[in-house]
Parts: sequence; C-alpha cells; structure tokens
Amino acid sequence: MSNHISLSRYLVEEQRVAGKIPAQLRLLLEVVARACKGISHAVNKGALGGVLGTAGSENVQGEVQKKLDIIANEVLIEANEWGGHLAAMASEEMDSIYLVPNRYPQGEYLLLFDPLDGSSNIDVNVSIGTIFSVLKKPEGSGGGVQESDFLQAGAQQVAAGYCVYGPQTTLVLTVGDGVAMFTLDREQGSFVLTQEKVQIPADTKEFAINMSNMRHWDEPVKRYIDECLQGKDGPRGKDFNMRWIASMVADVHRILTRGGVFMYPWDKREPNKPGKLRLMYEANPMSWLVEQAGGAATNGKERILNIQPTQLHERVSVILGSKNEVDRVTSYHLS
Ligand code: AHG
Ligand code: MN
Ligand code: MN
Repeated sequence: MSNHISLSRYLVEEQRVAGKIPAQLRLLLEVVARACKGISHAVNKGALGGVLGTAGSENVQGEVQKKLDIIANEVLIEANEWGGHLAAMASEEMDSIYLVPNRYPQGEYLLLFDPLDGSSNIDVNVSIGTIFSVLKKPEGSGGGVQESDFLQAGAQQVAAGYCVYGPQTTLVLTVGDGVAMFTLDREQGSFVLTQEKVQIPADTKEFAINMSNMRHWDEPVKRYIDECLQGKDGPRGKDFNMRWIASMVADVHRILTRGGVFMYPWDKREPNKPGKLRLMYEANPMSWLVEQAGGAATNGKERILNIQPTQLHERVSVILGSKNEVDRVTSYHLS
C-alpha cells in the first residue's frame, strides 16, 4: 500500500475536511489537471508527435501562434466545456470569451488560462507550462455571461495554479489554503502530492529579468539591478546570481522552490503598454500563489491582486517573489 496522497485525495480533503472548496470547484480542478496531463503528453512527444513549430496564425495580441499554443488551448476547452462546472472560459489564445455551449449544463465558475506559457522555448526543449485562474461568476449576472463578468481583481480568485512541463511535470495549486505541489507519476497516471505549505524565503541572492531590455527600463528598476550587480562591493554587500528562463512558469517555479525575485517591468519600448505579461491569466494566478507562499507581488506601485482589470487581455508590470526584495523594488518606485 502506498501512502502517497493523490491530487484527487488532496482535493477531496480540501472539500470535506478543510471545507475550503465546494464539490463543483473540486471537479473543475480535477478536469484542469486532466487537461494538463494531456498537454504534458503532447509536449513530451515533441517532433515525434508533429507538435513543434508555428501554426501560421496570430493571436489577438499579434503574437505568432505555435502549434502547441493551439493544441493546449483546444485540450483545455474540450476537457472543460461539458462537465457542468463552468459558465465560460477565457484564454490568451482567444480574442473573446468562450461560452459553454447550450447543449451542456452551465456551472458557476469562470476559467481563465494561458494554455502554453513560454512558447519561445517549445522548439528548443526548455521548460514550458500552463497557467490558470478560477473566478466565480458574479451573483445576479443572470443566465448569460459577458466579458465584464471576468473583470474581477485577482483577490477574487477562488483557485489558481500552473503546470510546468520540465524534467518533471509538476502541478502547483492554491485554493487559498497555502500552496501545494503535485508531481505527475506517469506509471500511475496521476498527480501525487510532493510538497505542501510551500514557503518562499523572504531574502534572496537571485534575480530574474531579461537584461537585454536594460536600456529601456525605468529608473527604479535600473537602480535595483545596478545595486545587485555591484554585489559585495555595492550597497547590498552581497553577490547576486541571475536566472532568466523566458518561461514565467519555470521562473516562478524556481522562486517557489528556493526564493528569488522575478521582474517583467514596464519599459520604454512600448510606453503605452503597462508591461508585457497579461494581468488576468499570468500575473494574477502567479501573484496569488506567491502571496500564499509568503512572498509578494506588485506592479511597482500597488499589489497586483488589488488591480481592477478593465480589459480581458490587459497587460501589467510584474515584480514578484521573495518579500524583502519585492518590497525594496516597490519602495524604489514610490520614493
Ligand atoms: P507566452 O509564451 O505565454 O506568450 O508568455 C511568454 C512570457 C513569459 O512566460 C516570459 O517570462 C516572457 O514572456 C519572456 O519574454 P522575453 O522573451 O521578452 O524574455
Ligand atoms: Mn505566458
Ligand atoms: Mn501563452
């Protein structure tokens, strides 16, 4: 008898013992996990499965779609549309919201996802992932669902997580009761709990930022990185190390595992855009996970989870990770 705790058992206990989630949300999370398993299999096949390369189309944000962006999007929609737990979905890869077809029952949840995060890493066999966020359909919004129903601040999320497809496939989840990590056991075909109550150390000597954008940054970000680069000889009095994977899932996974600070700040390349990353299905779920693990997440000025979205695909500046470092970068913006 194995004493492994499966994701299913963890969710049943969150529902029954901790009273943290209703049955419908448990079903939703089971289905998302099953979809991630399917995406993981497609990712693993690589060139053998014909899943590499571009699809020859663009998404609403003008980004060239990779075959896997589209495959992952379809896997998530097909898995989630018939279960009766959802009212609608929204995705990085779809211009507007996706309503559950009339032939299926409608549930009370809204699911948002970045089906495939780190697209530039697919063809070079570097870690990629899926990010998801769950909201409740607002009370009194009637039978239909509109885009405005999705425009809720991140603090309203009822579940959030990601699945990273790397050397291991790991699903990381919060329902507001701390952060738990589940590793995919391919022989059993199930996710197994491998870490609970994840905590990010408050201090770190590791930062993650795309340094090639340095000349475009704003002063507070320049100041922070410059002080890190001065190492032992500078005001920080310690040497820093740098990592940049170019998959937010992989960078955040490292930070949840051993600490660090991740930044994709606003920069002068496109001054009218608040940043590169998307608020609703990248920054919000990651910010909640990080906060649930004792870290912090801001846009330089305010807590990301407090931002009231005005558009589904809105972008945001992101600074997240070890609390003391995020507080420092934020204080440089406010001073
Ligand atoms: P996506 O593949 O979903 O468009 O997201 C990519 C994001 C994020 O995962 C990563 O941190 C960042 O883009 C990398 O951007 P650069 O290539 O500018 O470094
Ligand atoms: Mn992404
Ligand atoms: Mn993506």
